[in-house]
Amino acid sequence: MKIIIDRFNGKEKYQKEYTLTSEEIAGKTLLSVLLLIKQTKDITLNFTASCRSAICGACAVRVNGHSYLACDTKMEELLKEYDNPDTIRISPLGNFRVISDLIVDWEPSIENLRKIRPTIVPKSEFSPEKGCKQTQAEFDRISKQWDCILCGSCASECNKLAADSSDYMQPFVFTHAWRAADDSRSNDPVIHVKPSVANGLWMCVHCQECADRCPKGISAADDIASLRVMAQRKGLKDGTGPAHAEAFYTDLVDGSGRLNEIYLALRSEGVIGSVGKTDIAFNLMLAGKMNPLHIFGEEEIEGHEDLVKMIKAAQAAASKE
Ligand code: SF4
Ligand code: SF4
Ligand code: FES
Repeated sequence: MKIIIDRFNGKEKYQKEYTLTSEEIAGKTLLSVLLLIKQTKDITLNFTASCRSAICGACAVRVNGHSYLACDTKMEELLKEYDNPDTIRISPLGNFRVISDLIVDWEPSIENLRKIRPTIVPKSEFSPEKGCKQTQAEFDRISKQWDCILCGSCASECNKLAADSSDYMQPFVFTHAWRAADDSRSNDPVIHVKPSVANGLWMCVHCQECADRCPKGISAADDIASLRVMAQRKGLKDGTGPAHAEAFYTDLVDGSGRLNEIYLALRSEGVIGSVGKTDIAFNLMLAGKMNPLHIFGEEEIEGHEDLVKMIKAAQAAASKE
């Protein structure tokens, strides 16, 4: 079979094709195939890997546009996923600057991790003598997030980062912010939530790609949602995002149970912000996605009463946590 690898020599991008026999691929992982190419066909190929055990996070690459942890990906299963093609294409992770071939620049991500202060400041009741203990249940709350190996697979697939990375952090950065903020030993969760809000917490487009691709089963999208709830509870409510969330709540609970698109923009962005979006509103109306008559209100959806009961019950349960 043919393996096309997207290469970069520091000046220009190019593709290189390698032919491997089925015997050469049999029983190997994606990382073993990359090593085989380097060791027997092209010593100039650059990529990173270390542990070969899905721990260090260094070996993530894209195959046919989707991210995979190379040492944790069996070639047999990978090829089956793509209906046993004659050719696959291996590329560096998306949404990262490429340094050389399959090696990407982690510095901006590390900078973002610094911003959310990933180390907790313990409560005053703890000390070197007494220790800094938590119960099993408190640890279980954050153990999934601790599994993050910083492989970058989630960031590679993130649609918000692809659209505009200037005001958004990599999904795993939010996972680490939530891991620190939800730690029962933390004296002040807000020190992790505030920088998250300031660096795009409300800009996530909920595409769930991060959760789909994480080799450890972590959902950065869920962690972002949890950070948003904590931000609201801690009074960090400035900006369009929190107002948008409030508008959803108003329509679902106090309104008809259906999102009122006419009032959504007004509630989220105010009169001045909404005026700048009249062209969008006009196009939505033309496409039948927004009904101007809903300015007078909407008919209540069937089962609205039950929906409100469910939301109130969830709120009551959450307030006891
Ligand atoms: S859900 Fe949000 S963080 Fe996850 S990939 Fe989509 S935009 Fe990015
Ligand atoms: S959240 Fe998952 S995909 Fe993202 S860096 Fe951590 S381990 Fe990798
Ligand atoms: S080589 Fe360490 S995670 Fe793959």
